Amino acid sequence: MTQAEFVVVANRLPVDKAGPGEGEDGWRRSPGGLVTALEPVMKETDGAWVGWPGQADLEVEPFDFDGTQLIPVALSADEIEKYYEGFSNDTIWPLYHDVIAAPRYRRVWWDSYVRVNRRFAEAAANAVKENGTVWVQDYQLQLVPKMLREMRPDLTIGYFHHIPFPAYGLYSQLPWRRLVLEGLLGADVIGFQRVADAGNFARAVRRLFRYETRAGRITVPGEDGTAHTALAKAFPISIAAETYMELAKKPEVQARAKEIREGLGNPKAILLGVDRLDYTKGIRHRLKAFGELLEDGRVTVDDVTLVQVASPSRERVEAYVQLRDEIELTVARINGDHDTFGHSAIRYLHQGYPREEMVALFLAADVMLVTALRDGMNLVAKEYVATRNDNRGVLVLSEFAGAADELGSALKVNPHDIDTLKDTIIQAIEMPEADQARRMRSMRKRVLEHDVKAWSDSFLAALDDARAAKERATR
Ligand code: G6P
Repeated sequence: MTQAEFVVVANRLPVDKAGPGEGEDGWRRSPGGLVTALEPVMKETDGAWVGWPGQADLEVEPFDFDGTQLIPVALSADEIEKYYEGFSNDTIWPLYHDVIAAPRYRRVWWDSYVRVNRRFAEAAANAVKENGTVWVQDYQLQLVPKMLREMRPDLTIGYFHHIPFPAYGLYSQLPWRRLVLEGLLGADVIGFQRVADAGNFARAVRRLFRYETRAGRITVPGEDGTAHTALAKAFPISIAAETYMELAKKPEVQARAKEIREGLGNPKAILLGVDRLDYTKGIRHRLKAFGELLEDGRVTVDDVTLVQVASPSRERVEAYVQLRDEIELTVARINGDHDTFGHSAIRYLHQGYPREEMVALFLAADVMLVTALRDGMNLVAKEYVATRNDNRGVLVLSEFAGAADELGSALKVNPHDIDTLKDTIIQAIEMPEADQARRMRSMRKRVLEHDVKAWSDSFLAALDDARAAKERATR
């Protein structure tokens, strides 16, 4: 194995094991945005990617995929249960999303999280060249920056946090709150989605360690009497906007959008929700508002249909099992009360779809509903905007999604306020085309200018600055 200049460490590899008969060498590229974002960097810099191949006990040797070296980290069934489903998705995920679901603090989960983080750190340390760069991704790997720094003081280390960072009053519940902060502070640059997330992080650091923080620069003392600077700053993530724009121009995608509308009985307005089936997404609030609008007679199934795509996610975590039951009961009740032979109130799809199909769906939708109760960014909001070359369509956007900081022309909502949510949905359905176009143009400008390439470029530039500062200091 040759060592790489630049190494990404993420919980998941950028590929999934292909089903029988598909994909080269049994792997296919996973659809995630991060993968697209980093593809050019990986190719330019002879990069490597360390991650879990997505199944229990799958021991695979490092291999080359599309010019990138992939370094699989195996997880046992026990580790998937404790590190991934347990600590990552039943402790950190609910805690960092403002305890929408109750976090569970279990010491055996924490132990597994530490062990697995160490395995990822070791894999990265072995993969990277002298004085190289490692970019760690997301909440599953918060301890990796410090572990890496101890193993390899020569490295420049970045960490990007894709989800929210909570206010101290919530964060302080975490029994391992000091250890997690220390883990993150091992990085030279710690990126967050919103300015507010970076602020919450810096406040937690001040409260627990009394370190000096100035304009996001935190002086972190090391054990040997030296210190390093960690920069905590917002780098809002984005999408490959150009790709969505181009897909939306394809005649076959546009034809498919028309076909989708026809399949739904050509209603006057199609409302759309697209989410992983997760309690942070506010799917229940959205269904409640729509159900009441039908109940009140402010909309009818002949005129308005809600399409809800809820892709399966973390299906063995109890909170997700419960949520699915609640959502499916609610959908069935609303449909039972309001459907006619020709029209359905809600078309509910518990499935994931390829990107082209999603773009067709975005083009078919008059109103996009993003009603997250808390969300790091919400890329679906940006994807919808990027596909609307026609400047039509209305985005209803929760103020609790990171995207709200950038998409000022969306119709902003507090999804907890059901009455206002209902009024906003009506306002969206009835919005004149000129108003739609004005708002859409300004949102498109933002998303096309700040695409995912701009995001990774700005993060990597901050890492370069950190490296230069370190070199100056040791000279
Ligand atoms: C969020 C997280 C990612 C995660 C994704 C899918 O976007 O920020 O780190 O990969 O959800 O969740 P999963 O548990 O399937 O990886």
